[in-house]
Amino acid sequence: MHKEMLGAQGFISKNLKAVAETGKPAFTGRMVGIPGPLFGMLAKKSQRLENGSLSPFASPIGHNHCHNFRIVLICPKGRERMNWNDVFATRMSRMKASEIRELLKLLDQPDIISFAGGIPDPALFPTQAFQDALGDALSPAKQSQALQYSVSEGYAPLRDWLADHMSGLGIPATRDNVLITSGSQQALDYLGKLLLSPGDTALLGWPTYMGALGAFNAYEPRYDRLDPGSNRGAADYAAEAEAAGGRVKFAYASVDFANPTGQTLDLGARNAILDLAEELDIAVIEDAAYQALRFDGDPIAPMLALEIARKGDINACRTLYCGSFSKTLAPGLRVGWVCGAAEVIAQLVLMKQAADLHSATLNQMAIATVAAQIFDDHTALLRRTYRTRRDAMLAALATHMPKGVQWTKPEGGMFVWLTLPKGMDGGALLAHALKSQRVAFVPGQAFHPDGSDENTLRLSYSLADEAEIETGMQRLGTAIRDVMP
Ligand SMILES: Cc1ncc(COP(=O)(O)O)c(C=O)c1O
Repeated sequence: MHKEMLGAQGFISKNLKAVAETGKPAFTGRMVGIPGPLFGMLAKKSQRLENGSLSPFASPIGHNHCHNFRIVLICPKGRERMNWNDVFATRMSRMKASEIRELLKLLDQPDIISFAGGIPDPALFPTQAFQDALGDALSPAKQSQALQYSVSEGYAPLRDWLADHMSGLGIPATRDNVLITSGSQQALDYLGKLLLSPGDTALLGWPTYMGALGAFNAYEPRYDRLDPGSNRGAADYAAEAEAAGGRVKFAYASVDFANPTGQTLDLGARNAILDLAEELDIAVIEDAAYQALRFDGDPIAPMLALEIARKGDINACRTLYCGSFSKTLAPGLRVGWVCGAAEVIAQLVLMKQAADLHSATLNQMAIATVAAQIFDDHTALLRRTYRTRRDAMLAALATHMPKGVQWTKPEGGMFVWLTLPKGMDGGALLAHALKSQRVAFVPGQAFHPDGSDENTLRLSYSLADEAEIETGMQRLGTAIRDVMP
């Protein structure tokens, strides 16, 4: 039992300090001997201090009109607040909510034009096809399979459809080369878990997909810059990894129309990554989330296809291809896949068994039906629509950006990456742009493991129509001019 006597001021200032430092008040307990009006005032402050939840132990006891009162705070044994930070695993220290995410929570306001989200336009979801497919999966003949536990590898007809789909991309594969995951995000998490011990090195692009950093961070790696254009050799990567107490385990690359830059790795870069991986004897994680959304230019063979061409057999390959139905059919159903050597898929199946048994069968059945019916036609519609928006954004950028601002010209996907003159700060620009121009984007720092490149930002054109894109870029141009040195 902890007992402490404090004056009212002491109570408030001690608690305020504790909240500032630890996020929670120093005292939860019974406040006794508090005059009624003062209790009201304290309760209000405490409520604010405790983020809306007044300690359940605080109550006014008696009514004391004496001006010379004291407050007694008593934490009854076993009812002190637990200090969760003492029991969280060390990996949690790497998993922080970013300030930018907090800022982006403001985006629901209707007058803000947002280019921050990188999500599909819901108006383009094939809703009728899903209604029919879900109805079919729940029909008397199929419901016992749809609603029952199932195998961890995934729904066999979907794995077969994917094996066929991968063959169409130059990746001859069988069902045993495919694991269905709950979105490709789960594949990234599992691959991090499979490959990384604390202190190991993951090579990745700088900037890189924020969700990949989030997934890998949990396994406490060190990051090094994967730059296929540089002349850094394998020995250099290996020595730095060793000096940091681990070894290089994999190279991760978002290959087509990357999130966040919109850029595509050309054939030379893909081969260079494979060469480096061979030399280092590491895995390659090929993130192909946007692969189906090419608007122009010729498709480039996936790294897994290039490696199969070198080795003759997918089961001899080190590349693990992560695909997703989120950008093509519907992200809410959470269906993605990993394709690669059967030996690795078998390990990932064990991991999935331990983690969530299997992805929702009903969703897998619906995706299998809809993909078989409309995948090609539907992705053609998406490409037409997003291409129009990409064109509108590139045209509006050319009209409204001040001199000194540069941007990428994506051949597909959902993103354009802007580089502001050196010295400018994307985070500060976002705060200003939201306030003065009601326009939003994601500052580029969020996509860097070391928070560098603060003079960059990501724009997504997937959700806005052409008129919004024009107005939004005009507003962004004004906001940039306002803060330009
Ligand atoms: C590059 C990249 N990889 C993976 C994902 C994860 O997508 P999902 O888990 O919905 O398949 C995303 C989502 O935005 C992404 O941009």
